[in-house]
Amino acid sequence: MQRKIRVLLTHKIPKKGIELLKNHFEVVILDSGSSPDIQLSKILPTVDYLVSLLSVRIDSNLLGNCTNLKGIANYAVGYNNIDVNVAIECGIPVTNTPDVLTNATADLTWALILAITRRIVEGDQECRQAVFSGWAPEYMLGYELSGKTLGIVGMGRIGSAVAKRGTGFDMKICYYSRSKSNNLPESMKVTYLPKLKELLESCDIVSLHVPYTDETHHLIGENELDLMKNNAFLINTSRGKVIDEVALIKALSESKIAGAGLDVYYNEPLIPKEMRELKNIVLTPHIGSATKQAREAMAIMVAENIIAIEKGLIPPNLIPEMKKENLKGNH
Ligand code: NAP
Ligand code: GLV
Ligand code: GLV
Repeated sequence: MQRKIRVLLTHKIPKKGIELLKNHFEVVILDSGSSPDIQLSKILPTVDYLVSLLSVRIDSNLLGNCTNLKGIANYAVGYNNIDVNVAIECGIPVTNTPDVLTNATADLTWALILAITRRIVEGDQECRQAVFSGWAPEYMLGYELSGKTLGIVGMGRIGSAVAKRGTGFDMKICYYSRSKSNNLPESMKVTYLPKLKELLESCDIVSLHVPYTDETHHLIGENELDLMKNNAFLINTSRGKVIDEVALIKALSESKIAGAGLDVYYNEPLIPKEMRELKNIVLTPHIGSATKQAREAMAIMVAENIIAIEKGLIPPNLIPEMKKENLKGNH
């Protein structure tokens, strides 16, 4: 009898995705009690497909053993956890989960923008600790967004959804990407700045939406923070290593910039003590896509991609580096 196709999940994902996979395949989920890395190296050579999380590194050590692996579906839009060059060499298609988490992540970005500029977390603490002693003309003054300039770094799916929300706040919008975007609605008035320097010097809110790559490693370091205005805020919902975290802590503690809102960290889930103690920062625990709607849609998406590969089709969310000609066999 032919063996059933096996799909390995490094972690449990929402039920709809698991059910869809179970309709077609045998599903194996790693034991949450012990390290996924150790279990992975043992089990991976025995399965046909892998569903990975962004916290699990899929590198040459692991993929070197996996000649049978027919596909990797990353349960995230960012796939910097996967060594894509090795996957290409091995002819293993890699898919991600674009679009379905764009609105959730853009909303969270705005939650950070509003929380840091209007001191929401500080205010919440004052209320809970019964320090709030009544309305006063100069109590808890924050920063007003209307008329200010929002600078988007990486005007892709999420960057443009953040920009669109910015127009509702009557903000001027600038952006920097390596290329000028052709997909923005005509009605959205945005200015393309071909140099990051210009954006950093001129914007009041700088929001990062680039993928993490060799090129974007430390895109924002000491020099870039120096270029920002003293009353500007830095928001990061992309990846922690896009910012030099040590330089950011220094800039915030010396009030070189007004504040920061972060959802992602250099060495997740660790957040340096010096950062946790800063007053001019708002921190969320990597929850950009954490809505029931987005996480369910992502679960269905990973399942659909694996089903497509197994049928010999190009999966709908094959990552852009993996052009058809880079894949071996029937993919
Ligand atoms: P996307 O549509 O691919 O957009 C990425 C943008 O970055 C593109 O506009 C690209 O334009 C630009 N870019 C790429 N490399 C660049 C560089 N070296 N310098 C300047 N710009 C560069 O991706 P997305 O769906 O918006 O997602 C963006 C990232 O957000 C993901 O990769 C992921 O890391 C992160 N994310 C985080 C969460 C969270 O939970 N916090 C949730 C979802 C996504 P050019 O190619 O023209 O430069
Ligand atoms: C989340 O960070 C993602 O890349 O989907
Ligand atoms: C504030 O609550 C006001 O009425 O101005």
